Amino acid sequence: MTLLRLAHLSDPHLTVALDDVEPREWLGKRAMSRLSWARGRKHLQKPEVLAAAIADIHAHAPDHLAITGDVTNFSLPVEFRAAAAWFATLGAPADVSVIPGNHDALVPVSHIDGWAHWQPQMQGDAEGGSLLPYVRVRNGVALLGLSSAVPTAPGFASGTLGPAQLQWLAAQLQQLGTQDLFRIVMLHHPPADGVVPARKVLTDRAGLRAVLAAHGAELVLHGHSRDARFDPLPGPRGLIASFGLPSISAIPNPRDEGARWHLLEIAKAENGWRLTVTVRVLDDTQQGFATAARYTLQISK
Ligand SMILES: [Fe+2]
Repeated sequence: MTLLRLAHLSDPHLTVALDDVEPREWLGKRAMSRLSWARGRKHLQKPEVLAAAIADIHAHAPDHLAITGDVTNFSLPVEFRAAAAWFATLGAPADVSVIPGNHDALVPVSHIDGWAHWQPQMQGDAEGGSLLPYVRVRNGVALLGLSSAVPTAPGFASGTLGPAQLQWLAAQLQQLGTQDLFRIVMLHHPPADGVVPARKVLTDRAGLRAVLAAHGAELVLHGHSRDARFDPLPGPRGLIASFGLPSISAIPNPRDEGARWHLLEIAKAENGWRLTVTVRVLDDTQQGFATAARYTLQISK
């Protein structure tokens, strides 16, 4: 019996018109980031690729979408508003779960100009619950949304969860683990070692792995890496699968693997769950998506 059909996508880096942005908003790290974007990523991130990906996702009619960060490029108020409008086109807020990436915290932004716009997609089930971290339970599947997005010095794109969030995660995983739920941990930065250069790492990834090893999870989803990743992480009763995705709007190039999203179908099985992964990648025409692989993981309790 299938519990949930979940589409995982990451790092959309929405293309937003920036003509009306005040010059004062381009000071500091945003200026550097804009320069490097204009030199490189602007030519690799294509709104038409993102549109084709979303059309492909909708054609598969998933129950839920998980977006693991880097929705914006520069953390500009105009980008947060544009992203909120884009989220609304994807599905009902209850069916779209978002967490932020380093580009969504490029510089400090007031709550009201920034993440407040994403509250419908970044808030847990609990009534009046605060933003991030959050738990959303959907038909036997618990989605745990974390934030590793913190402003960093120019030239850095690292992330940090922090002790309070790790403590929260440990308590939630333990409690949800007693409820026969398939626990999915979502964060932007990769939890494994050696995935990204030092300036882009999750600083407390060892602490995260210790929590996962002690309390377990059935799946970890992340973005941030330029290549797709499958990293097994130690769990209390075996390995935990961790999937990372490159940007959903990137054309393939020497630095990026190119747009890709995963359809994750979670079903109950004897003594656990069956996770079927369908890998959808940008095809050679760069106008549509095709299945590159389909495989099933048995995940025991
Ligand atoms: Fe990132």
